Amino acid sequence: MTNENRKPIMAGNWKMNINHLEAIAYVNKTAYMLTEKDYDRTDVTIFPPFTDLRSVQTIVDADHLQITYGAQEISAFDSGAYTGEISGAMLNKLRVKYALIGHSERRAYHHETDENVNAKVKAAIKHDLIPMIAIGETLEVRQAGNAVEHTLSQLVGALKDIRSNYVGNAVIAYEPVWAIGTGEVATPQDAQDMSIKIREKIASLYSKEVADKIRILYGGSVKAGNVKAIMEQPDVDGALIGGAALDPDEFVRIIRWPDQP
Ligand code: 13P
Repeated sequence: MTNENRKPIMAGNWKMNINHLEAIAYVNKTAYMLTEKDYDRTDVTIFPPFTDLRSVQTIVDADHLQITYGAQEISAFDSGAYTGEISGAMLNKLRVKYALIGHSERRAYHHETDENVNAKVKAAIKHDLIPMIAIGETLEVRQAGNAVEHTLSQLVGALKDIRSNYVGNAVIAYEPVWAIGTGEVATPQDAQDMSIKIREKIASLYSKEVADKIRILYGGSVKAGNVKAIMEQPDVDGALIGGAALDPDEFVRIIRWPDQP
């Protein structure tokens, strides 16, 4: 990552792992290991389950930690009769920074459409949360030669009617579905190729300034052993990490990606 205007982000998506007691231990351990130098080089954020957010907030606030946290989901609605949903207003009250939207597991298991994703991006912005929008193709789509077209159409759908001042601050996570939890990591060149397509699309929809500002992460089987080569790609500004981020030691090694051999 060579663009000095974009600070890298390492984001750990815990998915449905780590209960609130484990979360307290995790955050304490991670915070104990991280130094000012780490935070200067890289933004560090975690996406715990909803049930952990209050515990995480309490430690982050009490110890003035520089770790930030996001929610793995957000309701498109503000309040009301939506059993099981969590609103942006509730997340904002917990000082949640990011809302992860459009993760492929939500699209696959909860049938989320680009329209749902777009409504949630609007809800996040309305409640002062930064949307982290996940897009990416399945293996079938890639093998059919439609990876770029598919991923960019998810991007366009997610950003429909979103004004440019919000887009520059948003984060895009390119996560090819075939690389998630499979150990099958995309090559650094695959990550770069799609990131540049995403950036070009944003430049055409908005402006070069917005495209230069937005951070694009890669996700899919990232670990300490492969993160550096991915991060050396000029248009990759960070990683969204699942399995490897469940272990604080490994997460810290990933955060220290410039030091990896
Ligand atoms: P893995 O790192 O376990 O492949 O998961 C990636 C992911 O889905 C992060 O959101």
